[in-house]
Amino acid sequence: MGTLCVLIFAAHLTTTNMIGNTLVSILRAPGAWQALRDRPELIPGVLEEGLRFDAPVQGMTRTVTEDCQIRGVAIPRGARVFVLFGSANRDLPGVKDPERFELERADGPNLAFGRGPHFCVGAQLARMEGAIALEELTRRLRGARLAGDAPLSYAPNLVHRGPSALNVAWDVPTS
Ligand code: HEM
Repeated sequence: MGTLCVLIFAAHLTTTNMIGNTLVSILRAPGAWQALRDRPELIPGVLEEGLRFDAPVQGMTRTVTEDCQIRGVAIPRGARVFVLFGSANRDLPGVKDPERFELERADGPNLAFGRGPHFCVGAQLARMEGAIALEELTRRLRGARLAGDAPLSYAPNLVHRGPSALNVAWDVPTS
C-alpha cells in the first residue's frame, strides 16, 4: 500500500504541474504556440526546457551520509539539507541565458528528475504523457493565449510548483 501511495503521489501532481508550468511558459513566449503547431517535432525539446525553466519538483530534503564540502561550505554527516533542483536548473554549466525560456534550446540534461541512484523512475512515462498533452493541445487549439489579467496563483508548497488554474482562450473556426 505504501509503495502504491508513493507511486500515485509521485506521479500525479508532478506530471500535472509539468504540463501546467510548461504551458504557462509557452503561452508567455510570443509566437511559440503557432511555432509548435507548425513544428510539433519541437515538442520533446520544449518539454525538457519547461522542466528546466520551471521545475515541477522544486526541491527535496536529504540526509548527508558523510562529511563533505561544496564550494567551500562544510556540510557535516547527518545534516538535513534541502536540495533545490529548481534553482540548480538555472545554474547549470554551459547553459546560456538560463533565465530565458527558449523553444529550441539544445543544452545538456537538467535536474528536474533528480540525479544518481534515486533518479525518478517515472521520468520516461512523464515525458511521454507531457508530449502527448502538448501535441494534442497545440494541434486542437488554434491561437491559444492566456486569458484575463489576474496573476496566476500557486499553492503554497515548498516542493511542488504549478499553477492552481490556467485561464486560456483560443480561436474557434467560424465556418
Ligand atoms: C514531471 C513529472 C515528474 C517529476 C518532475 C518528478 C521528479 C522526481 C524527483 C526530483 C525525484 C527525486 C530524484 C532524486 O532524489 O534524485 C523523483 C523520484 C521518484 N519519482 Fe518522480 N517525477 C515525476 C514523475 C513521476 C512519475 C510519473 C512516477 C511514477 C510513475 C514517479 C515516481 C517516482 C518515484 C517512485 C521516485 C523515487 C525514486 C527513488 O527514490 O529511487 N515520478 N521524481
